[in-house]
Amino acid sequence: FSLKPYNTFGVDANARYFTEVHSIEELIEALNNPDTQTLPLLFIGGGSNILLTKDFDGLAIKLNLKGIHTDPINENEFWVTAKSGENWHEFVMFCLNNNFGGLENLSLIPGNVGTSPIQNIGAYGTEIKDVFVNCTVLNLENLQLETFDLKQCKFGYRDSVFKQEGKGKYVILDVTFRLTHRIHHIKTEYGAIQSELENLGIQNPTIQDVSRAVINIRQSKLPDPKEIGNAGSFFKNPTIPLVQFKELKQKFENIQGYPNGDFVKVPAGWLIEQCGWKGKQIGNVASHKLQSLVIINATGNATGKEIFDFSTEIINSVKEKFGIELEREVNII
Ligand code: EPU
Repeated sequence: FSLKPYNTFGVDANARYFTEVHSIEELIEALNNPDTQTLPLLFIGGGSNILLTKDFDGLAIKLNLKGIHTDPINENEFWVTAKSGENWHEFVMFCLNNNFGGLENLSLIPGNVGTSPIQNIGAYGTEIKDVFVNCTVLNLENLQLETFDLKQCKFGYRDSVFKQEGKGKYVILDVTFRLTHRIHHIKTEYGAIQSELENLGIQNPTIQDVSRAVINIRQSKLPDPKEIGNAGSFFKNPTIPLVQFKELKQKFENIQGYPNGDFVKVPAGWLIEQCGWKGKQIGNVASHKLQSLVIINATGNATGKEIFDFSTEIINSVKEKFGIELEREVNII
């Protein structure tokens, strides 16, 4: 069964078995199916953060649970719950249409609601941990439902319990966010948002204006996975010790960094560009010409292995030039 339509890289890898589930009952039924019960499992959400490097010899389960509900907590606070199969951006638009604030900076991120906690999706000064209440998960060991609150999720930069000790143990079924309804916290500290709002001639932005600005910025430099296969940022921005950063600054005057205590976060896109990768293509794979952190399936015919090998070459050259080891952000299957 081809998984090509189910991963935004558009890689044509096969799964031995595939099924799509629309409810918890269907999910449990699929997990209890005697024909496939002993096989490895691959859960697919929006498919926007996976790289399939070979055929999957197991059962792939596409999670298609849908539904949104809203709970008023007080005049200014609503808890909004979305099931895992809701498309992330459509969910953000639902919130904005109903004047629920908190997710506007995360407009146009590919993927589904159910995968958003796994890597604590973030952009333009916001991460989901800022408005996260809890998520319901299915424990795969005993098929019982559990709730994970903010603390239990152990969110970090592009990280959570679901990428660490909880990896492969749970399926996220829904996520609840704490959103504002009347008085919003507008977050425009991120430089690019400020300049885009200026371009638009907006002085006192609403949450809808912030969303518009973010959409414009993303559309101007990130490739649309519907047109060119990609999975957003392929690598994490590395964090290095301040001492190492100071040494690099002597050699590379233009290196940028965001200090955080004794550490500095360095934009991987800059490092990759400096190594000459921006816009460079090898075979079917390339680094995007406007944002080198994004690896693209340039011809549409790339295999996962080719993309993986391309990413290894980038890692090697950044390591050689800067002594920094890039870490992949995308899940390698
Ligand atoms: N830069 C370069 N060359 C490049 C790309 C970037 O010099 O080819 C420089 C830019 O000039 C800028 C800096 O790197 O000064 C940061 O670039 P940008 O604002 O585009 O953000 P980023 O750090 O590359 C991160 C997230 C994105 C998120 C943006 C905006 C990670 C791994 N990526 O990218 O998230 O949209 O910030 O907040 O943290 C994703 O995770 O898939 C993703 C797209």
